[in-house]
Amino acid sequence: MKIKLADTFRDFMRRHFLRSVAVPLAALAVAATPLAAEELIPEKDELKFGFIKLTDMAPLAIAYEKGFFEEEGLFVTLEPQANWKVLLDRVITGELDGAHMLAGQPLAATIGYGTEAHIITPFSMDLNGNGITVSNEVWEMMKPLIPKMDDGRPQHPIKADYLKPVIEQFQDEGRPFNMGMVFPVSTHNYELRYWLAAGGIHPGYYSPADISGQIAAEALLSVTPPPQMPATLEAGTISGYCVGEPWNQQAVFKGIGVPVITDYEIWKDNPEKVFGITAEFAEQYPNTTIALTKALIRAGQWLDENDNANRGEAVEILSRSEYVGADEEVIANSMTGTFEYERGDKREIPDFNVFFRYNATYPYYSDAVWYLTQMRRWGQIAEPKSDDWYAEVAAKVYRPDLYLTAAKILVDEGHVSEADFPWGTDGYREPVSEFIDGVTYDGRTPNDYLKQFPIGLKGDDLVAQLSELE
Ligand SMILES: *[C@@H]1O[C@H](CO)[C@@H](O)[C@H](O)[C@H]1NC(C)=O
Ligand SMILES: *[C@@H]1O[C@H](CO)[C@@H](O)[C@H](O)[C@H]1NC(C)=O
Repeated sequence: MKIKLADTFRDFMRRHFLRSVAVPLAALAVAATPLAAEELIPEKDELKFGFIKLTDMAPLAIAYEKGFFEEEGLFVTLEPQANWKVLLDRVITGELDGAHMLAGQPLAATIGYGTEAHIITPFSMDLNGNGITVSNEVWEMMKPLIPKMDDGRPQHPIKADYLKPVIEQFQDEGRPFNMGMVFPVSTHNYELRYWLAAGGIHPGYYSPADISGQIAAEALLSVTPPPQMPATLEAGTISGYCVGEPWNQQAVFKGIGVPVITDYEIWKDNPEKVFGITAEFAEQYPNTTIALTKALIRAGQWLDENDNANRGEAVEILSRSEYVGADEEVIANSMTGTFEYERGDKREIPDFNVFFRYNATYPYYSDAVWYLTQMRRWGQIAEPKSDDWYAEVAAKVYRPDLYLTAAKILVDEGHVSEADFPWGTDGYREPVSEFIDGVTYDGRTPNDYLKQFPIGLKGDDLVAQLSELE
């Protein structure tokens, strides 16, 4: 009798949601997708997922450690990868079933920038979480120029305007100004470029013939894998970098560099990593795709619930060598609501890492479009594209239909609350202006967005023409 009542309740909830979910209904109705958990038998249940040693891989570690994968009937192995390129290649070949990815990776692969493959994402992993660190030498040169607060500490956010004279001095001395970022289509590359350009420093263009990204550059950006960032800075090969945690806080602990800004201050609540799988995997294993998305949503919720009450436990898990493998103290610095800049200058940033609240895990089309605008701005997309093109690529890669299918089952099962999900959205966030340069971003009008930047490609610009003009 009890079981029957429960089933009736589930049926009621199911009908209720089928009526109230406005947008993805078409997708749900075609329903190769399952409707209730007890029917959700994964086609493939032994899975291997890849990740890079960064704290924002947390949803994977938590889904594993808290048994959320297992509850979905999934037997998952988590495997750290050497770098982002290797990780993507192994997802494409099928050696990995899915992975923690840079948001730019599924988009770039799908449009054929770098390795071509149709990669999709049913789940965004987090908001914020990165920082820009400069060497002690650069900090000593910048610091006197930065306005001070009453207590003598530097006023935040620190703009790249204060780095510009340092770069000019390097130029006068005939020294190149090198900076590290983690991958050509990484959030970190775009965030570093955004910050530099907002301070009048040209971070350089890409072109089909020159993929260095250093055409016309005043700061020379190149790739270094995240865990190697501090050592590369210490060796003097680079004078600064943009990376995720714990690799900024580690520079503080080692005394080799000073974080000057977090990505939260460059763009408040910027979308970060995604979970990527091939389109082929999702087609071949539809139940598995929904099941793994369910487990990841629960992990995201666990990481943020009760006002981050579980973060201490998450830090202990992440510190283990099979995950991030860094000191608990270093990881805790950023995971528990603070961020340390110059040593001793620890400030509150409660939203430095967001894993669930603010609809963080919903794969918004507008997030995808933002990444595409940055690829266009810096010449990775060499030719002009229409606003429709941006929207079409976003819809091909970002799959809120899969996400909401998973979320709906979780609501039916009582694991999550209906109020925590944006059921009726068209996939575009409202225009946001909380960027360091005050520019407004509306994902519906990417070409107008690009026109607002003094530095960067826009309209019909081609890199070749710009270089001729210089
Ligand atoms: C996938 O789930 C559906 C319904 O949710 C179920 O009927 C089907 O048997 C499952 N597919 C496989 C291959 O197990
Ligand atoms: C989350 O989504 C809901 C529904 O679309 C929306 O009203 C709300 O503003 C969103 N929250 C944030 C922080 O974006």
